[in-house]
Amino acid sequence: MQHTHLIRKRLSTLTGLLLAVLGTTANPLLAQTTNSETADSVSNAPPAIPVLQIKADQVAAKVSPMLYGLMTEEINFSYEGGLYGELVRNRTFKANRTNAVYWETAGGAAISLDTNQPLNAALNVSLKVDTSKASKNSPAGIANGGYWGIPVKPDTAYRASFYAKGDHFKGPLTIAIVSTNGETVFASAEVPKISSKWQKYEVILTTGVIAPTKENKLVISTTKPGTFWSKHGTVWFQQVSLFPPTFNDRANGNRSDIMQLLADMNPKFLRFPGGNYLEGNTIAERFDWKKTIGDISLRPGHESPWNYWSTDGFGLMEYLEWCEDLHMEPLLAVYAGYSLRQQHIDPGTNLDSYVQDALDEIEYVNGDTSTKWGGQRAMDGHPEPFPLHYVEVGNEDYNRASQYEGRFAQFFNAIKAKYPNLQVIATTVVTNTVPDLVDEHYYRTQEQMEAQSHMYDDRARTGPKIFVGEWATRIGSPTPNMAGALGDAAWMCCMERNSDIVLLESYAPLFVNVSDLTSTPRGARSMQWPSDLIGYDALTSYGSPSYYAQKMFSTHHGDAVLATDSQDIPTYTWAGGRGRGGGGQTAAPRQVPSLFFDVTRDSQSGLIYLKVVNRLGTPQPVHVQISGASAVESQGAATVLKADKPDDTNSIQEPAKIVPVTENVDGLGTDFTREFPPYSITILELKAK
Ligand code: AHR
Repeated sequence: MQHTHLIRKRLSTLTGLLLAVLGTTANPLLAQTTNSETADSVSNAPPAIPVLQIKADQVAAKVSPMLYGLMTEEINFSYEGGLYGELVRNRTFKANRTNAVYWETAGGAAISLDTNQPLNAALNVSLKVDTSKASKNSPAGIANGGYWGIPVKPDTAYRASFYAKGDHFKGPLTIAIVSTNGETVFASAEVPKISSKWQKYEVILTTGVIAPTKENKLVISTTKPGTFWSKHGTVWFQQVSLFPPTFNDRANGNRSDIMQLLADMNPKFLRFPGGNYLEGNTIAERFDWKKTIGDISLRPGHESPWNYWSTDGFGLMEYLEWCEDLHMEPLLAVYAGYSLRQQHIDPGTNLDSYVQDALDEIEYVNGDTSTKWGGQRAMDGHPEPFPLHYVEVGNEDYNRASQYEGRFAQFFNAIKAKYPNLQVIATTVVTNTVPDLVDEHYYRTQEQMEAQSHMYDDRARTGPKIFVGEWATRIGSPTPNMAGALGDAAWMCCMERNSDIVLLESYAPLFVNVSDLTSTPRGARSMQWPSDLIGYDALTSYGSPSYYAQKMFSTHHGDAVLATDSQDIPTYTWAGGRGRGGGGQTAAPRQVPSLFFDVTRDSQSGLIYLKVVNRLGTPQPVHVQISGASAVESQGAATVLKADKPDDTNSIQEPAKIVPVTENVDGLGTDFTREFPPYSITILELKAK
């Protein structure tokens, strides 16, 4: 594209100069910036005002209608302790083989895990509770503190349920949400009778006029030590569950506040179930989708590669319903015969059953009800097929590309034979098959993102399209700060400007529970991976500056990329270096732009969206010239995300410190100069005719 070539030329000249005088400030061009990490100080000489020419009548590319999506996996307590509504931690007692972790006793009860009284083959252990010390003054039972707390809100109905059976114990049991110190009972209900055979019990716990808190626990207790004939009662529990009201009132559904944050992004697709979560540490610990569907009490659960247990209450159907609720298309990643500790299946007959599993999974998603797996989906409550256009084979095979070739080809051929219209995505470049798309991942620093902000401008327009299936500017923990959002926005300008070849993009990771950032081992804390888009604890959630940058981009764009030209784009000196995902290469010192833009137009309304990212700590004037439009109204709108400092951020305590503000603006037209604030991302909406 024209503007790219100009910038390139300018940058390469600057880089030459820089290399010649590296370490000096003699060159006035280089003196615009310093070699410091933030590189934000400016020279005394007034820099030339950057000029941006927008050719309103020249479409450089079509914007992919599917460009902005989401990527998700179970990491950082994304579902359990996150999106998934379940409030009880270790509800099936399988998180640890020997101890009932996250459970404690109430009153004088004694508890232990019991493999002799399984609920069924999937939930093959239960919690045995000795009630013989129970009394009116000291009820005996069990308590669970949830995922770093059990939230309560005023006038809210919570669904509690559990399986139980008694021996010399017939009840009653009291189920209550109680403050951690035991002083306040927020809601309680009674199950009068417990059978001697496994049975499911359900009650509704309704709160009254209370202040929202999370320092609470769920307590199930009894005042009866046993029956009339024996005071040595025992009661066994399995699948103890507590759900708040959920988004769209789904019985096994999701937290409304987090769903709303996602809905506000207007995402077009959801890549799931990973990521590493798809692969598992071992083949046995992969995302084995057939074990994640149907009645949740028949799902065995599995250990995740992020070192904590997954009940699989959030399984394949729940991913699909999540898509349905937010009007997203599933982008289904199928297990490709490789797990993280390098267990893998070579191509050939040994791989056939895994390929068949993938075909079955696709049929479960989009087959009609006359098919075996479409029929199963109907029995699981969803007769309507889900829309499906994209299937990804595996995850991040770039380090093992040669052995991926054969595995990919076997999956690709089988999927294409049965579903010729599906777009099949490879996780790295393959040479003996031509995938429809290749998934590229970029976890970068701010400077690296900015340095690659024109990377796709010169990519070949032939061959497979691109899915940037995981990317993030990794600055800030647990969630990225404004510097991260600026790097993200520079990168999103690049992807949007090139979305004729970059068809899909999704930031990763999506979620983090911010309750415990430091405990060891890794699976005990709530964050396994810093810099995540959306943070939450048991009670509230928030979007990071990167979240708001994403939301701004995905909700403000046209369907056509306009041709542009530019001059005098400022640059800063980056000392170079490397970052995760950098392919092991250390970047040489270089000049990097400090202003980024891209321009799209809505062909129906004529509205032009001009995105400008100013990574500098000084206001940046830009002279905008628009040709190819008979007129541009002087009034328009500006949506601006900005911060005082690059490390400013949002948090659970300050969720809205940095949020976009939209206001009507004046002074626009076919030729105008506008100042863009320090550390800012701006989207100008220009009404062109
Ligand atoms: O997003 C976190 C992890 O990064 C993903 O699971 C994996 O695909 C990548 O390495």
